[in-house]
Amino acid sequence: MSVLAVEDIAYVRFTAPRLSEMQAFLSDFGLFETFSADGILYMRGAGRSPYVHVTEQGRPGFAGLALRARDMADLERLAATQKQAIEPLNAPGGGAVVRLRDPDGFCVEVVAGQSAVEPLLVEPIVPWNSAASTHRVRQTKRLRIGPSHVVRLGHCVLAVRDFRAAERWYKEMFGFITSDEIVTAEGLVLGAFLRCDRGDTATDHHTLALALSAQAPRLEHAAFEVRDLDDLMVGHDYLASRGHAASWGVGRHVLGSQVFDYWRDPWGHTLEHWTDGDLLTRADGSRQASIEELRAVQWGAPGSASA
Ligand SMILES: [Fe+2]
Repeated sequence: MSVLAVEDIAYVRFTAPRLSEMQAFLSDFGLFETFSADGILYMRGAGRSPYVHVTEQGRPGFAGLALRARDMADLERLAATQKQAIEPLNAPGGGAVVRLRDPDGFCVEVVAGQSAVEPLLVEPIVPWNSAASTHRVRQTKRLRIGPSHVVRLGHCVLAVRDFRAAERWYKEMFGFITSDEIVTAEGLVLGAFLRCDRGDTATDHHTLALALSAQAPRLEHAAFEVRDLDDLMVGHDYLASRGHAASWGVGRHVLGSQVFDYWRDPWGHTLEHWTDGDLLTRADGSRQASIEELRAVQWGAPGSASA
């Protein structure tokens, strides 16, 4: 039994020397500034989370991730078992937080009690026709040129020194379930995609992924869900037109199945746009996959090693 079962990822935190430059990039990426003061920039998506990306003024770097507990009772149990204080979350949406360090030294915040915000009003998604079903009849499709609309944060991938140690910590603490474990032909386990245990409620194929690395622990990437494929592609063209650094994409992964598009922020952190990922329940269990499946695309640009 884990200490608690988290229900999603809440936000990622970074440090950067120039908040205005981060704000400009993230606006082009499809996030919306919600609040900034005292050297901290909060950016939200169009969904119900008060914010999904935080930047504090400082030397450029990844500063940690936050997971969302189901309720305050879970947060109190975590605090008691880990002998940590519950602190007020002095940020948009309020709430409470317990701060931990994972085996690689990453700051992991667990939050509860944040107030949801009203979703931003954006134009409705124009339905898609396929050969099998026609949902768009007597209606043209005209897309607005501009940034994608990030709706929510979906997952992040951490490069870790000892995969089994990190996996044990995240599973025992937060109840993560393996969706796909990556194993070489020689039987070496290189990492895993982990999903939240939400019982019969479907959840993303991965909310966290851990990848074995011989280098120092680092954020591999953080991934934000956009509205649909049109929204992702329009945003791709917009980021390119603004001169930002593309990293990998567009393509469709095998593991998780999502359509992906990776970009780099002004300090080189990789951020992903994704849409149309797999949704699984606890009953879907766990499987093993090869390094070839990890790297493969079902269509689009072949590329690097993590999804
Ligand atoms: Fe990803």
